Formats: sequence, structure tokens, C-alpha cells
Amino acid sequence: MDKALAEEIIRLKSGGLSSLCSDKPLKEIAELTLEINKLKKEKNAVICAHVYQRPEIISGIGDFVGDSYKLAKDAVSVKAENIIFCGVHFMAETAKILNPEKRVFLPDMSAGCSLSESIKASDIIKLKKKHPGSPVALYINTSAKTKAESDVIVTSANAEKILIKLFEKHKKVIFLPDKYMGANLAKKLNKKIGKEIILWDGSCEVHEKFDSSLIKEQKKLYPGLVAMAHSECPSDIINAVDFMGGTGDMMKYIEATNAKAYMLITECGMGELAKMKFPNKNFISMCRLCPYMKSITLEKVLDTLIKLPAKKEIKVGAKISEKAKKAIEKMFELAG
Ligand code: 13P
Ligand code: SF4
Repeated sequence: MDKALAEEIIRLKSGGLSSLCSDKPLKEIAELTLEINKLKKEKNAVICAHVYQRPEIISGIGDFVGDSYKLAKDAVSVKAENIIFCGVHFMAETAKILNPEKRVFLPDMSAGCSLSESIKASDIIKLKKKHPGSPVALYINTSAKTKAESDVIVTSANAEKILIKLFEKHKKVIFLPDKYMGANLAKKLNKKIGKEIILWDGSCEVHEKFDSSLIKEQKKLYPGLVAMAHSECPSDIINAVDFMGGTGDMMKYIEATNAKAYMLITECGMGELAKMKFPNKNFISMCRLCPYMKSITLEKVLDTLIKLPAKKEIKVGAKISEKAKKAIEKMFELAG
């Protein structure tokens, strides 16, 4: 075997990849990651990868890895000319808004998000007319056009903090579009839905389908188990777990605690990454795959890097981009 390929296999193994589920043998993965990492240098490109991406993407080729908030912050500091975004469309679009002068590519342009699909800019305009003076806090899982109509963007990592700040100045806040996250936050902040916090009928098709009875069963089977759910889950799930938060919060909590076992009720990539980062901790599976996140593959990344094709490049009109950027920057300011 070629020396560079043998070394790449060792690198991937030491990164924890050999113990993880992947549908490809390590040699095949190594051939692709070797080629991609070489091309990244030649094409002055970096790879941003969300934690729900396949493990071979995260540990094999990712330069910036994290939750939606971290990736938005990282995007500001990127020096390379080209960003290949391994995530879904709204994440790549956010990176483009923050880097209008750079080229941002999404290896599969059909990688969408059910939350993002649930609301249009015209819906927000109508809501603003119905509730004049109330600020719009918009979840980052949304299109650039909707971001342009909102006052501040939030992510799972900072929604609570930003809502608290908004409620210091306003009696009513419009929180869109995730109805479950909105209801979970309304309960935590003791706000009346429909009166003090206005919600929308959006949801994540991955997080809304967990079964709370299974969580209760597993907790009985494994005493000491800490169950953690993403804040996009419905309230019956949140009531059955010990911890609610975004993927970044979950990772920090696992790092800081020493539970007998952890159950991560979220997209499967998160559990894979946690196992890779904390090989001595125990994880009990309860996850679902996001088809959009998983539509990104090493082959598609390689093809994108070779061609840098216009059809996979993210484009945002200047006016929309400017307005959306203000709302994202407001998030950076309020999240601190
Ligand atoms: P995080 O920001 O918590 O990583 O969530 C993003 C997402 O898409 C959750 O489904
Ligand atoms: Fe969207 Fe849900 Fe997939 Fe996250 S997991 S990208 S919210 S569909």
C-alpha cells in the first residue's frame, strides 16, 4: 500500500473513526479524505461541518466543526477563498451572508430542513403587522429571506439568553418558527403562549418523532442514566429527560459530568461524535437520522472541490444579505 494512504488510515483510526459505524471500509474513506485534504490546499478552501455530519466528514476532512452557533461564529474568521459547507442549506447561506466576498458551496443543494421550509418572509411580514412593536426572534434554521425580515437570529445555544434580554424591554416577543422549542422556552421563562410569546407551526421532522415511553423505560433499565434531548423535541420528551439543550450544550455537559451513561435524544451524528470525543464514557442509543444532513458524502465533497461548480454555489442578493446580516450580528451582540 502507498505510504501516504497507510499514514492516512492511521490518522483516521487515531481520530476514533475505526470504532464508528460507517458504510464504507476505512481504506476507501482514506483514499477520499487524502484527496480532499490535498485539494483543499490547492483550491484555498476550508470545510465547515455540523456535528450531525457523517463521522468520516467530521474527523476526516472538517476544519471547523460545531453546532450552528459555533459555525456561524467560525464563518466570520475564515481566511480561505472558498468554503465547502458540510451541513444543510440554511447553514451554508448563513456562512455566505457573513462572507459575501467569499465563495460558499453546498455539496448537495437539496440538503434542506423542515423548519426552514415551514415559514416564508411574507408570513413574518403579516405577523409583524398583527403584533406591531414586538421583536421577531428567528431560529437560525431558516432562509436568508426570512432572516432579512427578523430582528434577531437565535440558535439552540443562545435562544433562552436572547429571549430573556428581549423580555426585559418588551411584553411580547414573536419566536419563529419552531413551535416545540418555542413552547419549551415559554415554559422555562414562564411566558404565556399566544399572549406574551407568539409562535408558529414549524417543527423539525427528526426531533418531533421520538417516543417518550421508550425514554422512561430505558431510564428504569439503566439507573444513573442521564437522558438529554435537543430543545427542538416536543414537551413530552423534554419532560421525560434530565437535560434540554442544543448540540453544543450537550457536548459541554457530557465533558463536565461523569454519569454512568448518557442517552442523546437527537440526530445520530451527535452520538457518534460524543463517542469519538469521550471513548471512556458510556452512551445508550436513541437517535434518528436527518436525511438532509446525511445527504452530504465524501464523494460529493470531492466532486464539489474539483469543479467548484456554479450550480452548487450559494447566492444571496445584496439587499437581503445586508438585512439578514444585521439580524445575525444582533445575535452575536446579545449572545455575548
Ligand atoms: P444545533 O445548533 O443545536 O447544532 O442544532 C442544529 C439543528 O439543525 C438541530 O436539528
Ligand atoms: Fe432541520 Fe431537523 Fe435536520 Fe436539524 S435535524 S437540519 S432541524 S430537519
